[in-house]
Amino acid sequence: MTEQPLSLVVLVSGSGSNLQAIIEAIDAGLPARIEVVISNRPQALALTRAASRNIPTRVIDHRECTSRDEFDARLDSLLSELDPQLVVLAGFMRILGDPLVRRWHGRMLNIHPSLLPDYRGLQTHRRVLEAGEQWHGCSVHYVTAELDGGPVIARARLEVHGNDDEASLKSRVHDCEHVLYPTVIDWIARGRLTLADDTPMLDNKPLRQALTFEAPQLMEAAS
Ligand code: GRF
Repeated sequence: MTEQPLSLVVLVSGSGSNLQAIIEAIDAGLPARIEVVISNRPQALALTRAASRNIPTRVIDHRECTSRDEFDARLDSLLSELDPQLVVLAGFMRILGDPLVRRWHGRMLNIHPSLLPDYRGLQTHRRVLEAGEQWHGCSVHYVTAELDGGPVIARARLEVHGNDDEASLKSRVHDCEHVLYPTVIDWIARGRLTLADDTPMLDNKPLRQALTFEAPQLMEAAS
């Protein structure tokens, strides 16, 4: 384990339930520290969650930027100033441009509500239901310029029930996210997970395929 806690900057846009899960995991011993939470939306509930734990917050309102490039430049400049060891996208609803993503290559994670590489993009729960899929879940991946396309580290898989609707599925996927994301951050914080030549390495072994946890076991282990 590294001596100092891993320094994190968390990027958010919305409710921040994943941010909350990371905060609680840190309380429970995850060796990391959230330096700042950054939002592109001034009203994001995630900012309130951070502030209530005395975590500094910053807003870069994308509506005040005249272009995507300007938003990216402002974000990049703030990230460079903060210089975290890891940037954690937790419900951050902006597509980041190539130069910024390249600069943070191997140091930027995202969580996505599907079993990647399936169902990139938005409305995943609805699309999974419409397609009549048997399985759904969430994935944690390194961020690259390809939307939801970077190397996948770990996934949690759950079975879609016959009576599931979008809300029930989203809720169960969220429960998995709140365990999976802190788990992956913990591996990085303890020096167990790195990215080498676009291949995640866990305990010095290449993860040629994402580690996939079955949701019941994952939730059981976390309880
Ligand atoms: C999650 O479903 C995450 O997978 C996706 O955005 C959602 C964020 O939820 N990237 P929250 O803001 O953490 O509650």
